[in-house]
Amino acid sequence: VAQARPYVLINVAATADGKIDTIDRHGAAISTERDRRRVDALRASVDAVMVGPRTLLDEDPRLTVRSAELRAERVARGLPEQPAKVSLLAHPGLLRPDSRFVSSGAARIILFVPDAPAAAGSTGGAASPGANPAAPAVEVYRVGIGRVDLTQAMATLVQRGIARMLVEGGGSLNFELLRLGLVDEVQVFIAPLIFGGATAPTLADGSGGLDVRLTQTEAAVWEDGGVLLRYMVDRG
Ligand SMILES: NC(=O)c1ccc[n+]([C@@H]2O[C@H](COP(=O)([O-])OP(=O)(O)OC[C@H]3O[C@@H](n4cnc5c(N)ncnc54)[C@H](OP(=O)(O)O)[C@@H]3O)[C@@H](O)[C@H]2O)c1
Repeated sequence: VAQARPYVLINVAATADGKIDTIDRHGAAISTERDRRRVDALRASVDAVMVGPRTLLDEDPRLTVRSAELRAERVARGLPEQPAKVSLLAHPGLLRPDSRFVSSGAARIILFVPDAPAAAGSTGGAASPGANPAAPAVEVYRVGIGRVDLTQAMATLVQRGIARMLVEGGGSLNFELLRLGLVDEVQVFIAPLIFGGATAPTLADGSGGLDVRLTQTEAAVWEDGGVLLRYMVDRG
């Protein structure tokens, strides 16, 4: 029986050659102004926004809804002004309380970490908020032994009121979520750029391959030279 989980939507901005960053991995700008507004609206439409560990630590994204109008609309709908921010790390101490991820915007912060190897004898069952050395506002859940169990993390999220979640990379997290069948929808903005480089990150980086089938629901050509592609993940 499939475990309950949030509706999960992956969004990436990619180049015409399918890269989501340059080989230097400094978080290259790919989105256009219009695409940044689209992503802002996507964030405003979800209960939570998730990023992977390397994206969190290297780029320290804010992940906030920038538009005051969209924030006001959320509040009018009875939602928190900002969606929750979700990530995973090897250890809660890696999350800096002064990071933009933690401190930008009035957002609930949810962090998943694995059980320490020393705790391998524990049940690995129900997630429990751990003591939080990072910041008082951060909810820390220990799920999985050695690595974060993403399926269990999703179940925890839905139990904690996250019904719809936007995932904003990076490529490794996207790969893992797709591999585990935890993704419902993929949106790709293709910018008129080529970054090249065999090692530059892509939408789904991981060791091994995937065979994920999609159904296209939208393909829009934008006046800024971009193309927006929207797909639903086929349930096999
Ligand atoms: N253009 C865009 O839309 C966009 C958006 C976001 C990021 N990016 C780009 O993507 C790149 C970052 O991608 P990335 O793949 O390096 O970073 P990432 O997905 O943010 O994080 C990768 C890390 O996650 C770890 N990980 C994955 N699943 C895990 C699990 N279940 N438990 C514990 N750890 C887990 C991996 O560990 P292992 O190595 O042990 O597997 C790896 O160290 C950057 O260049 C960034 O600019 C682009």
